[in-house]
Amino acid sequence: MAVNVRPCRVTIASLAPLTVARHLIRAIPGAAMKIAIVGTGNVGKALGGAWKAAKHDVVLAVREPDNEKSKQLAKDGFSVSAMADAAKGAEAIVLAVPWTEIATVIDSLGPLNGKIVIDATNPLTPDLEMGLGFDDSAGETVALLAQGARVVKAFNTTGAENMMKAKDFPSKPAMFVAGDDPGAKKTVQKLADDIGFEAIDAGPLKASRYLEPMATQWIKLALGGVGTQFAFSLVRR
Ligand SMILES: NC(=O)c1ccc[n+]([C@@H]2O[C@H](COP(=O)([O-])OP(=O)(O)OC[C@H]3O[C@@H](n4cnc5c(N)ncnc54)[C@H](OP(=O)(O)O)[C@@H]3O)[C@@H](O)[C@H]2O)c1
Repeated sequence: MAVNVRPCRVTIASLAPLTVARHLIRAIPGAAMKIAIVGTGNVGKALGGAWKAAKHDVVLAVREPDNEKSKQLAKDGFSVSAMADAAKGAEAIVLAVPWTEIATVIDSLGPLNGKIVIDATNPLTPDLEMGLGFDDSAGETVALLAQGARVVKAFNTTGAENMMKAKDFPSKPAMFVAGDDPGAKKTVQKLADDIGFEAIDAGPLKASRYLEPMATQWIKLALGGVGTQFAFSLVRR
């Protein structure tokens, strides 16, 4: 896949006051966060519903805001917006699209400098094998494509239904969060905590190489008879 590296259109200096303001807002416990979700399928709707219930400000980023599907999403209570508009107004952007679409999607979001980009994709082949092998990952590829973004890998290691119903488990399911930007990773950990997960710091973005196979194992267990109503969790002694 060709990696499309766009030039920075915003200088670091011009972003500094905004970054400080964002950090102050994040420091207020319970402050709502502006989240754009790209992809309105299983994962997009599950995370969107869960964060809305947790009082975050969610917008679904779609290709055609006026088509029937988008109108139905609006009727279901979601804010819906065109891709670049949704990304522009968001502090965090979730990528919940098929892996094969990732370059197109990132390109259509416009400048992502300074934004938290959460990669929930799994780069699987049609026969559910690792499409990028074991010495690369979707998380790292997203970081190459989304120049200047603070990329975090998360919400890929459990089924979509569990993302909506994490609070239904008898003890908290784990959500593994990997990234190279400590502030962005903390924010995403908080977003996972807010919807009922125990957020686990899984290390740098390169750990996507371990989290993506973990998702594949989840899928194989689910299809192999365990079903979809289970999640990984940490048990301590
Ligand atoms: N399903 C799960 O349980 C699960 C769990 C963890 C991670 N994941 C990963 O999360 C991602 C999404 O999975 P999913 O099950 O939610 O998929 P899905 O139900 O098939 O939904 C995919 C969404 O992506 C949108 N989309 C596709 N191409 C696009 C483009 N070029 N621009 C904008 N939007 C585009 C689709 O829009 P339209 O509706 O317009 O076609 C659809 O809303 C995948 O990478 C998957 O591996 C899935």
